[in-house]
Amino acid sequence: MIRRFKVSNFRCLENAELELSPEFNLIYGANASGKTSLLEALAYLGRGKSFRGATTTNLIRHGASEFVLFGETQTELRSQRIGVRNSKEGLEVRVDGSGDGGVAALAAALPLQVIDPEVHNLVAGGPELRRRFLDWVAFHVEHDHLEVWRRFRRALKQRNAALKARSSPAAIRSWNAEFVELSLALDDSRRRALEIASDSLGEYGLGLLGTELGFEYQQGWMKDKALDRSLEEGLERDLQLGSTQQGPHRADLKIRYDERQARKLVSRGQQKLLASAMILAATETAQTALERPLLLLLDDPAAELDADSLSRLLEAVLGLGCQVVATSLEKGALNIRGGSAMFHVEHGVVSPAKNT
Ligand SMILES: Nc1ncnc2c1ncn2[C@@H]1O[C@H](COP(=O)(O)OP(=O)(O)OP(=O)(O)O)[C@@H](O)[C@H]1O
Ligand SMILES: [Mg+2]
Repeated sequence: MIRRFKVSNFRCLENAELELSPEFNLIYGANASGKTSLLEALAYLGRGKSFRGATTTNLIRHGASEFVLFGETQTELRSQRIGVRNSKEGLEVRVDGSGDGGVAALAAALPLQVIDPEVHNLVAGGPELRRRFLDWVAFHVEHDHLEVWRRFRRALKQRNAALKARSSPAAIRSWNAEFVELSLALDDSRRRALEIASDSLGEYGLGLLGTELGFEYQQGWMKDKALDRSLEEGLERDLQLGSTQQGPHRADLKIRYDERQARKLVSRGQQKLLASAMILAATETAQTALERPLLLLLDDPAAELDADSLSRLLEAVLGLGCQVVATSLEKGALNIRGGSAMFHVEHGVVSPAKNT
């Protein structure tokens, strides 16, 4: 969790400094005041990238040449100072004065999740978001997931480069053994992560939607077929298309809601609840593994939800025991009491507000 947070020149925020509550924080303000920007800045500090997919140029405040973010994180055991500076020269990361760990060190110091008005894409959008979701859980519960994932990406890149260069089948086959080994390791790691998260997934699904959810990992190549065999059979096609068509980079997480395929057959509000249930379950799973509360960013949780759904979501969020930073248009909209701090944002200026 994060106790102190400083932003300068990030989007419309020129300078802001916040003392955050370890429990619930509410940021309220009118449209375009800078609420989402503030959450985006917090998320950037823990991820080294924007959850809105924005480029550096769009994130730097108009007229400025760089943005700087700084935070003091805290666990039971220690406190860390983390910082990010981004300009045309590139991203600079600091964790307790050192830049060695890069973005992975930020993610370890400030693990966080986001629920924003685009969250339904986790259910309704393409498989990449679901793979990222699963990889995030695996990163926190499986010790060597990041290393396996990185080595897999490298093997995929090499094989694809050989395909693009129209190398001989023999040359391409020479990449297969390593590709298969790392694919299976990545596959195992994701399956274990899903297994570890499955109780939480079921519980939050039931809590938020009142129904059973089903999650099935699809590995990215034909079921019941060995990957090396699939690669052999797909070699010609891979050569034609110039990239590897089968493997864990093509995996997906199929979601069932009752007996329906959630991706196509549930309403927008249900998709939001479903995606939120997945994120809360992932957060709980990571918290259990790390033995500390995570940071959860809730951007405009009221969007798309009726009063009943919103209060179920907030109840589930509060039950998680994580640190929350939420936004809303109105001060009283979320009706949260106890352990909380409030901030008002107006034209990019953040000020503490009385919690009354
Ligand atoms: N690089 C930038 N420099 C300056 N201002 C920017 C930059 N990028 C975005 N803005 C502006 O920042 C303002 C705040 O945007 P933000 O999305 O944070 O508002 P918000 O409070 O979340 O609004 P809403 O309630 O509509 O979601 C907008 O007016 C936007 O145009
Ligand atoms: Mg917003």
